[in-house]
Amino acid sequence: MRQGQRVKYFVQLMLIILLRMDKQGLAAKMAVNCLKGIHMAHLGLIGIGVMGSAFAQNLAEEGHDVSLLDRSADKMAETVQEAKGQGLKGQLIACADAEAFVKSLPKPRSILVLVPSGGPLDSVINMLKPLLDKGDLIADLGNSNYTDTEKRVADLEDTGLLFLGMGISGGAEGARHGPSIMAGGSRQSWARVKGPLQDSAAKFEGDPCCDWFGPGGSGHFIKMLHNGIEYADMQLIAEAYGLMSNGLGMSATDIGTVFKGWMDGPLNSYLVEIAAEVALATDPKTGAAMLDVILDKAGQKGTGRWSVIEALHLGAPASMMAAAVEARNISADLEMRAEMEAAFGPSPQKISTSQADAVAALEQAMIAAKVCAYAQGFEVLKRASDAFEWDFDLAAIARVWRAGCIIRSVFLDEISDVFDKGVAKHLALAPVFQEHLKANTPALQSVVVMGISNGHPVPAFTAALNYHNMRRTGRSTANMIQGLRDYFGAHTFERLDAPGEKFNGPWHD
Ligand code: 3PG
Repeated sequence: MRQGQRVKYFVQLMLIILLRMDKQGLAAKMAVNCLKGIHMAHLGLIGIGVMGSAFAQNLAEEGHDVSLLDRSADKMAETVQEAKGQGLKGQLIACADAEAFVKSLPKPRSILVLVPSGGPLDSVINMLKPLLDKGDLIADLGNSNYTDTEKRVADLEDTGLLFLGMGISGGAEGARHGPSIMAGGSRQSWARVKGPLQDSAAKFEGDPCCDWFGPGGSGHFIKMLHNGIEYADMQLIAEAYGLMSNGLGMSATDIGTVFKGWMDGPLNSYLVEIAAEVALATDPKTGAAMLDVILDKAGQKGTGRWSVIEALHLGAPASMMAAAVEARNISADLEMRAEMEAAFGPSPQKISTSQADAVAALEQAMIAAKVCAYAQGFEVLKRASDAFEWDFDLAAIARVWRAGCIIRSVFLDEISDVFDKGVAKHLALAPVFQEHLKANTPALQSVVVMGISNGHPVPAFTAALNYHNMRRTGRSTANMIQGLRDYFGAHTFERLDAPGEKFNGPWHD
């Protein structure tokens, strides 16, 4: 049981005893206040969509009162009604308008906003600004671009208001029963909402998956990268599915069973678990496998693409996220793909390797590639931390991803351990990940060869292999790049026998 809960139960027990002994009710009143002081908060929440409604109920379940504001009075009424039906400890209060909402909150006010990023968020901020007092806090729980968050923190703090940018992952289910939360902004702002947010967050062995990581847009940067890794993970799953389906001729049910089996090993993760469920599901309309009726056109809201753009700016590797974004981009152009297939013939061919061997190799290739995806993700985070002086605690980032979020996996516990102990400069060099890579890279290589030689697009697997191979090549081929740069642009190069000095080649003598 968590410390906070123990204290709460103790105070509740005291309250019952006091109620029995204290006929005037004076001591009981003191105990009620004490109970409120220890735990309860009264927050505001704007945006009662699927996520907002679920998160409000989560906070109420933890004993917090929440004032609600949404354009739809019906949605608020539904949320309040549902909460009543569940007998939640905290109260949900639907407010008629912004004035009533702001008045309902104790000062200094703490307001969580769960609306789409960009314009809708700015409208909410502009609506609140004239109604709030100095010291009041607005926290954005949407998927905002971290550069926008940086600006909002600066703008609002100039007016005396506080602003937090928080990434929240876990979908509606997570929002209701415990999401993973990544906060950024001032320490003072964080201190105001830390208690209720950590109460509502997912727990990994009792630790809340909710933390503050630094100033400005740092929380949203971490959430963005979380999504970048999520894109890479999902693309690997899609490529494995494609090899099994188009290459080995396996049914969706057989593929679902393979994914299910992977849950017993190092690939145990939320995404593999739901990949099994998606593959095993049946279309209620036709009775066919769900996967066989879903249009092969992927959407995206932008965080994967932003991750790649930021990684490029920072000079950090993000080839797997880039492969995933590109695969989604190309998938979206259905007509062009159909035209190309008609012109060139279909690409993926049947794979002659035995199904058992190919599936075993795929599991191992997934392990190696997943290590590469996380290694790239943490390289980007480290670069950003250095460049923006955020001083990220990488172990703490891995810790908040161990439960509640979409990329939660057994790997993340190992990753937090590696960073906690400071045993390696790079994830791949940590003994546990060295072992994963040494044992599984040969399979990654054979899967890439198997895919490419049979016409299967495997961009994320290939990117993983190339990343690992480049990282482990002591003498690269960049000497040729330097020679060419110097030839056409006199950009100079260093010599192996005179490091640090600049030279030109004999090209134009
Ligand atoms: C989200 O944040 O909603 C998802 O994790 C990523 O969304 P996308 O796949 O639509 O970009």
